[in-house]
Amino acid sequence: MAASGVYVYIGFDTRADGAYASVERMSANAFPLGSLARSLHRYASDAFVLVVLLHLVREWLLGRYAHFRRFSWTTGVFSLWLVYASGIGGYWLVWDTLAQYSLIATTEWLDALPFLGQLTRNFDATAKVSDRLFSLLIFLHIGIPLALLATMWVHVQRLARPATTPPRALALGTAGALVALALGKPVASAPPADLATVPGTLALDWFYLGVHAFADAAGAWALWAVLLGATACLLALPWLSREARARRPGAAVVDLANCNGCARCFADCPYAAVTMQPRSDGRNHLRQAVVDADLCAGCGVCAGACPSSTPFRSTAELVTGIDLPQAPIGALRAALEAALDRFSALPAGRRPNVVVFGCVPAHCGLDIRALDDASTAALPMLCAAQLPPSFVEYALRAGADGVLVTGCRGGTQGGDCVYRLGNRWTGLRLAGAREPHLRAAVPRDRVRIAWAGRGDEALLAGELRAFRASLATVPWPAGPRPKRSETAHARRD
Ligand code: HEM
Ligand code: SF4
Ligand code: SF4
Repeated sequence: MAASGVYVYIGFDTRADGAYASVERMSANAFPLGSLARSLHRYASDAFVLVVLLHLVREWLLGRYAHFRRFSWTTGVFSLWLVYASGIGGYWLVWDTLAQYSLIATTEWLDALPFLGQLTRNFDATAKVSDRLFSLLIFLHIGIPLALLATMWVHVQRLARPATTPPRALALGTAGALVALALGKPVASAPPADLATVPGTLALDWFYLGVHAFADAAGAWALWAVLLGATACLLALPWLSREARARRPGAAVVDLANCNGCARCFADCPYAAVTMQPRSDGRNHLRQAVVDADLCAGCGVCAGACPSSTPFRSTAELVTGIDLPQAPIGALRAALEAALDRFSALPAGRRPNVVVFGCVPAHCGLDIRALDDASTAALPMLCAAQLPPSFVEYALRAGADGVLVTGCRGGTQGGDCVYRLGNRWTGLRLAGAREPHLRAAVPRDRVRIAWAGRGDEALLAGELRAFRASLATVPWPAGPRPKRSETAHARRD
C-alpha cells in the first residue's frame, strides 16, 4: 500500500481541476505502470481492511484481549477508525462522482453532530472545490495513514519481536495475487465529479464505503450509534468479559541469588517484561533480570530459558533465577521424580514408558493429563517453552524411554502459541539451535514434539502411540544404558 501510494502520488496532479485527469492518465498508462500501481493501491487497501478485521475476530475468538493484552487490544480498536479514515479519504482524491458521493456522505454524517457546523454546505451546487480544499484532502490522505502507522507502532510496543512481516511464501503469494487482480481487473474511475448533479448509480467499494450505504438507509445518527456502540463494546471487552474477570496469572519473580545476569530470560520473554539492570546486591560486574509485573503474562517462558532451572542441580529445593510462583520449576522436578519412581516400579512388559511435557489445559481445552496411564506420565506446564531442555535429558537418564513435548497447535514457526513465541523457542531449543539447548548427546529418536490444540485429543493420542511404537525399535546407543546423574542420585538418596 505504501509503495504503490508513493508511486501513484508522483503521477498525481494535486490541483482540484487536474486530479481527475491525472488519475485517468494513470489508468491509461500514460504515466508508466500507472494502472497497475493504482489498482494495486486499491486492492491492497481492501485486503488490509479484510486482514485487520480477521485479526480482530481471531484475537476475539481466542479470548486474547484481557489483562496483559489490554494495551494491544485497545490500541487495535483505535487503529480501526484510522484504517477506515485513511481508506475513505483516498477515494476523495480521484474526484469522480464516487468521490463526490463519499465526501458528501461523510460531511452529512459529521453534520449530524451539533458542534461541527454545516460542512456539507461547502459542496452544494454553487460551491467550487478550490485547490486549497483539495490540498486539505491530500493532507488528510497522507496524515491519517501516518497517524495509523504511528498507532500500529504503539500497538506492538508491549510485544517482543512482533510478527510485522509475513513469511516469504505468504508475502510473495499475496503480492502475486494482488498483481494478478490488478492486471485482470484494473480499477476505473466513475465520471468526473459534478456538484450540480446528484450521482446516479455508483459502484461502491463495500470494504470501505459500505458505511455510507448504511447511513443512507438508516440515517447518520444510526451510523454514529452503531460505530460508537461497537467501539464502546470492543473497548469494554478487556474489562467486562469472562476472561477479564478470571484471575490474572501471577508475574514471574527473580531470585537474585540464582541469577547470573546471562539475559536469556530477557531474550526469550514474549512480552518484553524483562529488563536487564545494574545489580542491587553489590556484584557490580554483573547485571540482573528485573520483571515488570504489569507487562508479564505469567507464561513461564523465562523460567524455561534460565540456566539455573536445571534438574541436575543437587540442591534439595530447586530454586531458579526467575520463576513463576504458581508453577515453579522445582514443582516440575518433583512431579518428574514422582513419575520416574512410578516407572521404575513397572514390570518390564509395560515399557516403553514416556514422559509427556505439555502446556496447561486452560488455554485451549486440550488436557494432556488424559494421556496419563501406567507407562505415560503427563506433566502440565504453563507453556511448552517453560520446559528447560535439561529436563528432557534428565528424564531420559533417569528411566524414561522417551519424552514427548507438546504445546499449542501450529508448529515451531509460531502457530497458535498462546504466548506467541513458546512453540518457536521450544523447537529451537530442542533442535540445539537456541540457548538453553538440548545437548547433542541426548538421543534424538527418544525425543518428539507434537503440537496439538482444541479437539486434537485423538491426534495427540495417535502421536503418542506412534512414538511409543518407534521407541520399541530404537536401540540405546552402544554401551550401558545411561543412568540418572550422580548428583541426582546423591540428592535423592
Ligand atoms: C492497523 C491494524 C492492525 C495491525 C497492523 C495489527 C498488527 C498486529 C501485530 C503485528 C501484532 C503482533 C502479532 C505477534 O507477533 O504475535 C498484533 C497483536 C495484537 N493485536 Fe493487532 N493489529 C491491528 C489491529 C488490531 C485490532 C483492530 C485489534 C483488536 C481490536 C488488535 C488486537 C491485537 C491483540 C490483542 C494483539 C496481541 C496478541 C497477543 O498478545 O498474543 N489488533 N497486532
Ligand atoms: S535467565 Fe536466569 S540467570 Fe539469566 S538473567 Fe534471567 S534470571 Fe538471571
Ligand atoms: S512469565 Fe512470560 S511474560 Fe513474564 S517475564 Fe517470564 S517470559 Fe516474560
